[in-house]
Amino acid sequence: MAEVAKSQPVKVREYNRFKITPIAGALGAEIHGIDVNNLDDETFDDIHSAWLQYQVLAIRDQDVTPDQQKEFGRRFGDLQPHAFNAPIDGHPEITEIFKDKHETANNGGRWHTDQHYRTEPAKMTMLFAHEMPPHGGDTCFANTYLGYESLSDGMKEMLGGLKGVNNGDSKKHPSGLTRMQRQNAGISTMEQKDPGDEVTISEHPIIRTHPETGRKALYVGSHTERIAGWTDAESEPLLTYLKTHNGQLHHTCRLQWEVGTITMWDNRCCLHLALNDYHGYRRRVHKLLIKGDKPF
Ligand SMILES: [Fe+2]
Repeated sequence: MAEVAKSQPVKVREYNRFKITPIAGALGAEIHGIDVNNLDDETFDDIHSAWLQYQVLAIRDQDVTPDQQKEFGRRFGDLQPHAFNAPIDGHPEITEIFKDKHETANNGGRWHTDQHYRTEPAKMTMLFAHEMPPHGGDTCFANTYLGYESLSDGMKEMLGGLKGVNNGDSKKHPSGLTRMQRQNAGISTMEQKDPGDEVTISEHPIIRTHPETGRKALYVGSHTERIAGWTDAESEPLLTYLKTHNGQLHHTCRLQWEVGTITMWDNRCCLHLALNDYHGYRRRVHKLLIKGDKPF
């Protein structure tokens, strides 16, 4: 029988500057009635608060240029260029995730949290939808507060002192290939760049504390390849369990995109996964990362 989460997100605040509708019980909400290019400070504060509360916000009916997307992103913090994915022309902070009609390769198809492998991983990812298939291409999210809270006291205690080793270019990828090897083999269509001096393997606590809400989350995703100080063989069973536990359906929501949707999620307390069920159609989004703190 499926394990039932012991608590739900705390719904602590009402909003009257926009219409907000939860999209699932676990996390996620959509917002109508604002223009991110024209936000007064009070409305921005409410959006920020709603983002912390719901973890994933989909703001419908937006129209932003790359400059405007970056301007909105900077209201949340410093922008963080992607370590591996090549940017679009003229905007080092923006990458384009694009799948063409004839392509079948997916990007981000396993439960993960973005830039998990950096010393200061992205706190927010903000995507803007330029093109969407008529159906399919949804993004799923999993609430990792619930992942933590639904563990037993014994498991919480054991995990409390452990760190995960998170690798941005792990050979443990299902293909067994590095990012550049996947690109050269035509398995990935995301153009890769050399990360240069960027740190792309980092150890972070498996139980992390959200610096703004104070809540604890289970910080394990597909970039987590080992437990620090443990062998691969020792790590694998526990990590497989924790990753599966985090991604249980009752911890999740599923976002249906529309052209013009801006979706922004909190990488500190959720995982995400891109579905690949729309072969024959184009899908194109612009991705922006906002830098976070060193996890503790
Ligand atoms: Fe991602």
